[in-house]
Amino acid sequence: MSSGLLADRTAVITGAAQGIGFAIAARFIDEGARVVIGDINAEAAVAAARELGGDAVAVGAGCDVTSAADVEALLAVAAERFTPVDVMVNNAGITRDATMRTMTEEMFDQVIAVHLKGTWNGTRLAGAIMRANGGGTIVNMSSLSGKIGLAGQTNYSAAKAGIVGLTKAAAKELAHLGVRVNAIQPGLIRTAMTEAMPAKVWEQKMAEIPMGRAGEIDEVAKVALFLASDLSSYMTGTVLEVTGGRFM
Ligand code: NAI
Repeated sequence: MSSGLLADRTAVITGAAQGIGFAIAARFIDEGARVVIGDINAEAAVAAARELGGDAVAVGAGCDVTSAADVEALLAVAAERFTPVDVMVNNAGITRDATMRTMTEEMFDQVIAVHLKGTWNGTRLAGAIMRANGGGTIVNMSSLSGKIGLAGQTNYSAAKAGIVGLTKAAAKELAHLGVRVNAIQPGLIRTAMTEAMPAKVWEQKMAEIPMGRAGEIDEVAKVALFLASDLSSYMTGTVLEVTGGRFM
């Protein structure tokens, strides 16, 4: 038996080969969890699991969250290698930014599929296992973009707002079965994705943040840990903002 907030629990985290998902996996392992890393980039998922300590604590597998069969297979890996899923983090994401004048239908559909359908797949399929096992926690990654709407992100803002509705509806369906479902809305977090931003855009965003800095990936991971663990035992259907006070 290990000690820690997630001692002996099995967590499945999508899009965890890098960035925020990877930081969540590392945090969870520190707190005694075993993690299954699912990512569309199978090679990177396997490498991430190796970096996090290998077979005893982490396993990586290819998974496209838009495919229910892939998500089911990912959840099966958890049961085979460790125990049935106790904690599900729906984190996989992409951006296809453009104003509506130039955004193609494909760019819209792709973003909705990965975020919204992907989160729905993860929530319903992990939820089914958890309800049969008497409980669990689900953490969905929304975004500040889903709260305020950002120009150039009609697809992403819609998907991330949709994740809030999905989270609340699922929380109501699963609460009496011991399954809690909550969401996180990160603001500007320093990752490969955001560091590619033009300096001017970065400065503009910085001016909107009362705390005057971008967030670090572990600062999102700590909130995911809170929602995944018993520290948040009386919380479901909530949305926690991790934004340094931006657009509070
Ligand atoms: P990232 O781009 O570093 O990581 C996303 C991961 O998802 C990648 O490993 C990618 O291969 C994987 N992925 C993409 N499509 C997939 C699919 N169909 N199936 C499975 N895996 C897939 O991004 P980051 O920054 O770590 O973002 C993680 C989550 O946090 C995303 O949902 C993102 O929208 C959200 N977020 C990020 C913010 C930021 O400032 N970085 C702010 C607010 C929300």
